[in-house]
Amino acid sequence: MNLSLGLQQCSAPATFTGKVVTTRVELRSAVSAARRAGQRIGFVPTMGALHAGHLSLVETSRAECPYTVVSIFVNPTQFGPQEDFLRYPRDLQADLQKLVPLSVDLVYAPPVEEMYGPGFGTFVDVAAVTSVLEGAFRPGHFRGVATVVLKLFQQVAPDVAYFGQKDYQQTVVIRRMVEDLDLGVKIVVCPTVREPDGLALSSRNVYLSPEERQQALVLWRSLQLAHRLVSEGEQRASVILGAMRGLFAAEPDVRLQYAALVDPDNLADVPLVTAPTLAAVAAFVGTTRLIDNRLLAPNS
Ligand code: PAF
Repeated sequence: MNLSLGLQQCSAPATFTGKVVTTRVELRSAVSAARRAGQRIGFVPTMGALHAGHLSLVETSRAECPYTVVSIFVNPTQFGPQEDFLRYPRDLQADLQKLVPLSVDLVYAPPVEEMYGPGFGTFVDVAAVTSVLEGAFRPGHFRGVATVVLKLFQQVAPDVAYFGQKDYQQTVVIRRMVEDLDLGVKIVVCPTVREPDGLALSSRNVYLSPEERQQALVLWRSLQLAHRLVSEGEQRASVILGAMRGLFAAEPDVRLQYAALVDPDNLADVPLVTAPTLAAVAAFVGTTRLIDNRLLAPNS
């Protein structure tokens, strides 16, 4: 078989035809032209390594807003010193390629210096909802998230911003910040996108070996178990959490950090599941830290 002939016959992949900018000045001029034209601006903030979860946010923005901006920025201030900032996957060309079918209007991919200039010293601290769950295990994480999201909102000035439910606590923190600081941005939370076997899509899934990929399913299995127990009438958080932790105990290579049942609005622990409740888990699978959650609705 003549491979070179085969290659010539393949059509070249489509290239990204939207605009890519790296500075605030270019961003403002592109977005203000859209705003002058009266277009509603949708915004999808990301750290790149785009997967179908991100693309579903972009699709929703495209369906709801005539002008969509996607930011790609691996934000150093939301990573702890022992976390994976340096090894976080970065491939702008691959990300742009994934955005081709979605006809995004503008991609904003600033370098770190554009976001954090010399002498940078102002951070956003959201109280209460940042101290539990992820906040308890990743000190400073939400300070970095809130700060960069506020900066991105200032720079892009969107009407609507789209976030995934997989980072549920992040959406609670951002809603709080938007409310407290009168930001006037509508926050839309889109459902978690899962692999057919239930694994929540995450940019960090690329770190998993094939064995770890199988072990990682315990996160979703534990959430499904919680859902089943609640739908069978179990209300006691201690019983539901005990059952969830039991599944993790049977996976020696998975280290559970927390399994929690919390109020979906203020993230306070609930002792009894008598109203809609968020089940949330975080665990290390090998060296990869994964999170997942699902809403539980009691029958009555
Ligand atoms: O969810 C993420 O990818 C990040 O936390 C965000 C919102 C882009 C801020 O860096």
